[in-house]
Amino acid sequence: MLRLVCIFIVLVTCCTTLKMPSSFKKCNLRSSDFDECLSNAIQDAIQQLKEPLPEYGLPKLEPYEAPKEAILEFGNETIGIRQKYFNVKVKGYTKIEKTSASFSLEHKRLNLNITFANVRYESDFEARGRLIFLPIDASTKIAINLKRPTFQIVFNLVEYEKGNLKYFRARDGSSHMEMEKATFDFKNIFKKGCLDGELSEMMNENWENITAYFQKTFPKFWISVYERKFNKFLEKVPVSELFDGL
Ligand SMILES: *[C@@H]1O[C@H](CO)[C@@H](O)[C@H](O)[C@H]1NC(C)=O
Ligand SMILES: *[C@@H]1O[C@H](CO)[C@@H](O)[C@H](O)[C@H]1NC(C)=O
Ligand SMILES: *[C@@H]1O[C@H](CO)[C@@H](O)[C@H](O)[C@H]1NC(C)=O
Repeated sequence: MLRLVCIFIVLVTCCTTLKMPSSFKKCNLRSSDFDECLSNAIQDAIQQLKEPLPEYGLPKLEPYEAPKEAILEFGNETIGIRQKYFNVKVKGYTKIEKTSASFSLEHKRLNLNITFANVRYESDFEARGRLIFLPIDASTKIAINLKRPTFQIVFNLVEYEKGNLKYFRARDGSSHMEMEKATFDFKNIFKKGCLDGELSEMMNENWENITAYFQKTFPKFWISVYERKFNKFLEKVPVSELFDGL
């Protein structure tokens, strides 16, 4: 019985720790072109996630389906319109034009700027409230397209020990988003599809104002989603496996 317990413990310890996926590039921390290598490695790893790596907790990114509980809400019914975005699906995360990463072991900070060709968010959408005197009560599907968006992401890492090995955990991340242009596809907000064309046209003309409004909530929402996924990976792969030259 004791032997069985021992074997079990060995198995559990062995399998919660994983090596880097063999298809992921590893970079040497002591090398002078470390940041450049890391930029390529991260871009390459993201582009491989057209298929998920479930043993590493890494999801399929093309398309990426946000977790059911990831719901984005704006506004206030009493003073305007309350909007709710849910069942969010993202297309374009694996078509990267440029990645620029820098990592400091001393500050335990990973900076990432990723420029995508196009990112498209599709989601279920509800809007409730009043516009002038008319009630709005919509339940529909919408899409938002970002042309050449750059996501600037900062992950702050804390180091901890588990079974004599060091691991990182990301927390208090931040992100910021810039883009060449955003376009909106909001249909069936009003009864019988009226104003459909006019609404999207008006939103597209004012895309800078709308994205400025989104900036207050959107990046915070997404960084928490990315951080959870990244931590699933970091939980399994110890620091000694992440880099060469440690
Ligand atoms: C909506 O905003 C008003 C004014 O700021 C506030 O008094 C009210 O509590 C808010 N309602 C909700 C549901 O947040
Ligand atoms: C990301 O872009 C910002 C703004 O242009 C810049 O300040 C920062 O140094 C960039 N970071 C990396 C890792 O390239
Ligand atoms: C959009 O933003 C610009 C510049 O920030 C501002 O001048 C303009 O009045 C805004 N338009 C709307 C419809 O809010």
